[in-house]
This record gives sequence, structure tokens and C-alpha cells, in this order.
Amino acid sequence: MAPNVDPYNRKITYLRVSVIDRCNLRCIYCQPVKDLKLLDHADILSYEEILKVIQVATDLGIRKVRLTGGEPLLRRNLLHLVESVCRIPQIEDVSITTNAVLLEEMARPLFEAGIRRINVSLDTLNPLKYAKMTGRECFDAVMRGLQTAEAVGFSPIKVNVVAIRGLNDDELARFADLSVQKSYHIRFIEYMPIGRDSAWAPEKYISSDEIRSKLEALGPLLQVQRSFHDGPAERYRFESAKGEIGFITPLSHHFCPSCNRLRLTADGRLRPCLLADEEVDIKTPLRNGCNQEDLKRVFQEAIARKPKQHHAEILERGECIRPMSTIGG
Ligand code: 5AD
Ligand code: SF4
Repeated sequence: MAPNVDPYNRKITYLRVSVIDRCNLRCIYCQPVKDLKLLDHADILSYEEILKVIQVATDLGIRKVRLTGGEPLLRRNLLHLVESVCRIPQIEDVSITTNAVLLEEMARPLFEAGIRRINVSLDTLNPLKYAKMTGRECFDAVMRGLQTAEAVGFSPIKVNVVAIRGLNDDELARFADLSVQKSYHIRFIEYMPIGRDSAWAPEKYISSDEIRSKLEALGPLLQVQRSFHDGPAERYRFESAKGEIGFITPLSHHFCPSCNRLRLTADGRLRPCLLADEEVDIKTPLRNGCNQEDLKRVFQEAIARKPKQHHAEILERGECIRPMSTIGG
């Protein structure tokens, strides 16, 4: 069997790397507690260590890397890491997920370092609500960041919207309009129960089917053909729209059977599934001076431990206690 095939015959080709647990926002669903314990600097993987893991992953068949956080743009000298990852010949695709607060100044350097695809987390188009949902008055900075990313040439620019009943479900028409006016791919993500103190509750969850039917009342949604690099999003667009609408349905339609990913947490653990807390420590072997072959075995163990599917359901919390800010989505 190929070294990157898991027990359920899924080929693991995608590594999501959380480079930092810190964030400059306090999104209500991500960091609801005031004094979320942050990692010590020494506990966070260095760039050298992250690159070692990515090299091992590449040798085993990983072809796609996404940098996440916390907020990745807060990590010092991030461009150095980006350049190094973009230079690895076997890696076909490097992307980043950011809240875009610092994107205005970072968009061009990131593009020059080799990134072309960017995901921006933005749950509301209302500046006051933005401040309420994130704890910071950064809405204008985010919009400037998006515009700069567009001007610099990022494509696609995906906008992640976590749909939360009673908070942003009154803004569907505005997001739809944004997908018509701009080339952005607006992706509605079902609100998942992540983190012990998460503000998640079943009544705040909205299914993608419900959002889609509300959007369809605004005009026909045409299906868009999925392409090779697509993740789990189902893709649509409104007639004559510049951009797209997508739905990511981790709870209502598990996409576990086609899962191709593994996550590296900021503190050096390989996480086989976002929604299950089992992890494989790769930091200790890295710091004990393990050789490439040993690290490969650790990586393969994480692949071997991928569960068939997660157990989070619409009415239950499931098993994810670790806060999102150290996993990176
Ligand atoms: N449910 C769904 N999406 C979430 N994200 C963070 N927490 C949750 C959650 N509980 C999203 C962020 C970001 C992406 C990485 O994950 O908004 O866009
Ligand atoms: Fe920061 Fe992202 Fe968490 Fe919001 S969801 S607090 S932007 S890490």
C-alpha cells in the first residue's frame, strides 16, 4: 500500500499547518474565554521543525499545504516559511487562511513569496456586528485587505463565513450580492462544536440546506463543476455573478469518506481528524533528534490513525476539546 493511504483507502495528500496559536481577534466561537491559555514560545514548532515535518510529509505523498493559525500573519518572519514551502518542488499548492486584519500590508509580499490562493475568515458584512463577533473594530482593515489581495492578483479569494443562527443569518442577501459584484468565493461553513468552552449550541447551528434554500429564493443557483484542488465545498454561482457561493457541510453531510487531510498543530502534534482529539506527538521525536525515517514512521502512524469518520452530530458536541485557535480549522 502507498505510504500515504489510510486504513479506509483514503489518499492523504493535504497537510494543514497551524503556525501560531495567537490571534488578533477574539471570534466568539473560537476564543470565547477571556484568558485562553496561550502556548509558550518554546512549545511552538520553529520554522526549521515545521519544514522538517513538511519535507517528511512530502516524501510520503503530501502535495498541498495550507498555513493556518491562530492568525498566521502574526507569526514573525512568516514570509521566510512561505518562501521555503513554495520552493519544495513536490508541493503543488500552498495556500493560507487568514482573518485579513494584516492583509493590506501582507498581500503583496505573500504573493511575491509564491502564494496564489487565500482564504479570508469574515462572518459579517456589518462593521458593528463585526466588532461584536470578533471583539475588535477591524472591519475596515479586513475590507482593505481583501481589496489589496484582489489587486495583487490572488485567485481564488475565498471568504469563509461560519453561519450562526441569530447572528449572521440575516445577511445572506448581502453575502450573495458580494459574490455577484466580486470574484470572491463565499463559502458558508456549518458551525461546528469545537473546543471545551465553545459558544456552540444546537439552536445556533444552521444547515447548509437551509442556507441554500434561502439563497435560492434570491435567484437560481447554478452548480459549478468541482476541480482537482477543491476541498469539500459544494460550488454554485448566481447567474452573471463574478464570484461563487459554496457550502461546507461537516455536520449535515459528512465528507469524511473523501477526507484527504492531516493537521499539524502549533505545538507539534499531528491531528488525524479535526473533530476528534486523538493526536500523534511529532515534536518530541523532532527535538530528540530523530532521523528522517523515524519521523516518517511517526507521520505514517498519524495517517494510520485517521478515524473512519468523526462523531460530532448536529445535536451533540462530539469529541473536540482542543480550541480551534491551535488547530487552524
Ligand atoms: N465551526 C465552523 N467553522 C469554524 N471556524 C472556526 N471555528 C469554527 C467552528 N466552530 C472557521 C474559521 C475559519 C476556518 C479556519 O474555520 O472561521 O475561517
Ligand atoms: Fe482568530 Fe480565526 Fe479564531 Fe477568529 S476564528 S479568533 S480569526 S483564530
